[in-house]
Amino acid sequence: MSERPIKVLAIDDDKLILKLIKTILVNHNFVVETVFDPLDAYSSALVFEPDIITIDLMMPELSGWELCDIFRRDPKFKKVPIVILTAKDDKQEREVARYLFKVNDYIVKPFEAEELVKRLNFALIRRDSLEKQEKDFFETIQVIGSLAEELKIKNESLERQIRLREETIINIMKSLTIALDAKDPYTKGHSERVADYSELIGKEMGLSSNELLKLKRGAILHDIGKIIIDISYISKPGPLTPEEFQIMMSHPSVGAKILEPLDFLDEEIFIVERHHESWDGSGYPKGLREDEIGLLPSIVSVADVFDALTSDRSYRKAWPKEDAIEEIKRLRGKKFNPIVVDIFLRIF
Ligand SMILES: [Fe+2]
Repeated sequence: MSERPIKVLAIDDDKLILKLIKTILVNHNFVVETVFDPLDAYSSALVFEPDIITIDLMMPELSGWELCDIFRRDPKFKKVPIVILTAKDDKQEREVARYLFKVNDYIVKPFEAEELVKRLNFALIRRDSLEKQEKDFFETIQVIGSLAEELKIKNESLERQIRLREETIINIMKSLTIALDAKDPYTKGHSERVADYSELIGKEMGLSSNELLKLKRGAILHDIGKIIIDISYISKPGPLTPEEFQIMMSHPSVGAKILEPLDFLDEEIFIVERHHESWDGSGYPKGLREDEIGLLPSIVSVADVFDALTSDRSYRKAWPKEDAIEEIKRLRGKKFNPIVVDIFLRIF
């Protein structure tokens, strides 16, 4: 509580009671303003700015309840403690006072001088303590809010760093596959074209931006396992020997093994591992079939074959685009996922 004297506004239609209240309180160092006519109470309060108000209940013109209502509705007096001083000891009225008008105390006349002083002081202490609690509560909320904001900023920065790290790894891998494709004049630019075709199909299918990102990355990396294969196999004219073919067929598994430590590349690893699986189960390395293969690998599979057919190879010339499309159509439901082929045919 402040050091200055406490200002009490006492409202009562009984002049004798007012005099008594004033005498008691002034003796205890309160500053007291008395109001005899309740109609003057509000304007007096505006000028006097009381720390606490005592109100009699039964008054002519304006009852104590009506006054309570006026004070409680006004933001200036909303938090000023009100103590009812009444001759009427009624349990129901006490409840009304407490719950409806947030009255701080209810004293029944006649009262002892010490009792009045004690209860007014108590009402003021409680008001101060509630105000402090309220202040502490809002300060705590503010601290929690700023901590949460700080945490959010830290998380965002961490996420940015993780994304940057992932992008760096992807870019290294991408450079590796581009270099790998470029080693063979017949496959130069193959992975990037497969990624472009896959993206076109994925967009037409309405994939989410995250799925499209994974699809493109997987398509770029799909042949990374060929890094272990001697270039002379890939670009040699004529068919491969069974042994060479065996090594060639291991490239999806090898690719998946290479990427395995990069756990953020979950879907991409599936694409690398499954892009030579066939819808009818005749593909490799696992002979998966139909929906076991997954949508993203099935898209890359179509894009991969389409690019291979429309590019020159060491053992044959590039097919005309129309013939390659016919071949894809022919392999619908055999090598390829029929839904992916249908979407492919809508674009090409
Ligand atoms: Fe491949």
